Amino acid sequence: MEAIIRLVEDRDLLAVKELQQEALITLRQIYYPTPEALRSRRNLLTVVDTVVAEVDGRLVGTAEYYPEDTSGGVCSCMNLSVTSASRGRGVGRRILSWLGERAAGLGFHTLRLHCVKETGNVAIFRRCGFHVVAEEASTLFQTPDGRSVTEVTLDLPLL
Ligand SMILES: CC(C)(COP(=O)(O)OP(=O)(O)OC[C@H]1O[C@@H](n2cnc3c(N)ncnc32)[C@H](O)[C@@H]1OP(=O)(O)O)[C@@H](O)C(=O)NCCC(=O)NCCS
Repeated sequence: MEAIIRLVEDRDLLAVKELQQEALITLRQIYYPTPEALRSRRNLLTVVDTVVAEVDGRLVGTAEYYPEDTSGGVCSCMNLSVTSASRGRGVGRRILSWLGERAAGLGFHTLRLHCVKETGNVAIFRRCGFHVVAEEASTLFQTPDGRSVTEVTLDLPLL
């Protein structure tokens, strides 16, 4: 059954937290945020909205999005998470597509993702229509044993 994508509601908050924790278990095998990353996330919290993916009444995915810059052209997606049992079945693609339509409707010209190359997610996001616009050694993230990782920025043009 195809996932229904919608904005988060109060009743979803616990399930969203659990989904994000599950995604973090995957990601923490590869990288951790530096203290600078944690500070920049705290600065974003007032402008984030959340979307969820639901199948048969259960949440199987979520993502957050926020305007990346004050000029208002770029909407960024973060904390994209699909429950491990539902990965590889098109849920991530559906969430990103929904976000693209919503961001376009809000007047943004680009949907942006930041990801760590070592996760292997760049190939997935390319399949979803994003292209790489920047790639650099990360100042925000590092491996569990302190080695540097590569941060990749990918854009999806809207409209
Ligand atoms: C990354 C993530 C959100 C992707 O969601 P998903 O539901 O598994 O992705 P989808 O099934 O929608 O796949 C999207 C596309 O990528 C393709 N794809 C999946 N895995 C791939 C891989 N390893 N290499 C290349 N393409 C891949 C799929 O085939 C699909 O393309 P298609 O529709 O043309 O066949 C999910 O795996 C996840 O939650 N991972 C853990 C947390 C995480 O990494 N979050 C992202 C942080 S930036």
